[in-house]
Amino acid sequence: MGQGVLTAGFTRVEGELQAEGVPLSRIAEAAGTPAFVYSAGLIRERYRALDSALAAVPHRVHYTLKANSSRAILRLLHGLGCRADVVSGGELHRARLAGFAGDEIIFGGVGKSEDELREALHAGVAMLNVESEAEVRAIGRIAAETGLAARVSLRVNPEVTVEAAHHYIKTGERGHKFGIPIDDALHVARVAASLPGVTLVGLDMHLGSMLSQVEPYRAGAERLAQLCREVRAAGITTLRHLDLGGGLSVRYADERPLDPAEFAAAVVPIVQATGLELIVEPGRFIVGNAGLLLTRVLYRKHSGGKEYAIADAGMTELLRPSYYHAYHRIEAVRPVAGTGRLDVVGPVCESGDFLALERTMDDPAPGDLLAVFDAGAYGYVMASNYNSRRRPAEVLVDGDRFAVVTARESYDDLVAREVDQPDWRP
Ligand SMILES: Cc1ncc(COP(=O)(O)O)c(C=O)c1O
Repeated sequence: MGQGVLTAGFTRVEGELQAEGVPLSRIAEAAGTPAFVYSAGLIRERYRALDSALAAVPHRVHYTLKANSSRAILRLLHGLGCRADVVSGGELHRARLAGFAGDEIIFGGVGKSEDELREALHAGVAMLNVESEAEVRAIGRIAAETGLAARVSLRVNPEVTVEAAHHYIKTGERGHKFGIPIDDALHVARVAASLPGVTLVGLDMHLGSMLSQVEPYRAGAERLAQLCREVRAAGITTLRHLDLGGGLSVRYADERPLDPAEFAAAVVPIVQATGLELIVEPGRFIVGNAGLLLTRVLYRKHSGGKEYAIADAGMTELLRPSYYHAYHRIEAVRPVAGTGRLDVVGPVCESGDFLALERTMDDPAPGDLLAVFDAGAYGYVMASNYNSRRRPAEVLVDGDRFAVVTARESYDDLVAREVDQPDWRP
């Protein structure tokens, strides 16, 4: 049996792994595998920990849908008073279906289409986080055309150096595609303030994901506070929010995750001095540790001196190991006899399809269930239909009850939007 520290929400009872009060084998029986399993209790706990850490300053937590946009989780968070942060028309649609009102939603993203901008304004979103002068001018045009009010916040690239697990998840360093370069921000603020129908309500940054150091947040917040003073000195008096983005790290292996109290201690005084409301956009922090991927070993294989466990889940369900070389702890759901050193691979026709490489871990037999931990964020949302695989089920556990909250896709789902007879046009 593995020696890893079990994530709260997932514990062993008489040797068998449970999600809250429900044995994972019971879930596998009812929902099949592969399946994502989430702990509602852990999601509540994470939201409340962050919300209460920020209590000293007026603030809003806008959960970032890109981490996990399952409607059941969105409804759960909405019920706790959490708001939403979306980056596409599709995420806006999901947020609305889950009950978020327009003014509880921030719409961000570096490449919003004109249709998406219109949809956001029609929905009455709290603000659009804009990333370029061209975008703010496009918003001004649409606001003038439609007569709809546009509240905007400038996503600034504060050009802060960060340490993150992978360079794909850094976003706030000099030269990145995201945000308005800090030196251009005052100019764009003036442009925004000059456009009829557009109100500049905030300044925003997002430095990257899996940030475990507080220093970049402090440095970035100070740059935004300085920009706030410059914007006000330029006679713009409409600022209301300072948005420090997401990125708080969680534990996957033995990293030290960023403590929300430490984060708050670093940034709250800076925000307080501006008199603005603090916004944060966490994703991974809320859901990362609150989910696991449940998969069954199909076969064992020995090849070229290596041991393989071939599971029924792989890169199509959880892309992070292949894409970021991310580590996810894996344990057998029921105790197994010993440990081995093995690759856990999926059924996809790619050599890069794996969940773990050369891992010393529980040595499972065909038919055994494995739990791939800490898969609540950037798991299901990055799942694909490659190899015409059906995206898995999602199961929410709350105490001693569980529910399938997203059904496994059917073969018909896979082909539902394809046409048999093409409707050729000249
Ligand atoms: C603009 C923005 N806000 C928030 C987040 C959430 O990041 P995390 O899940 O690391 O908290 C992201 C993630 O990429 C993002 O791009």
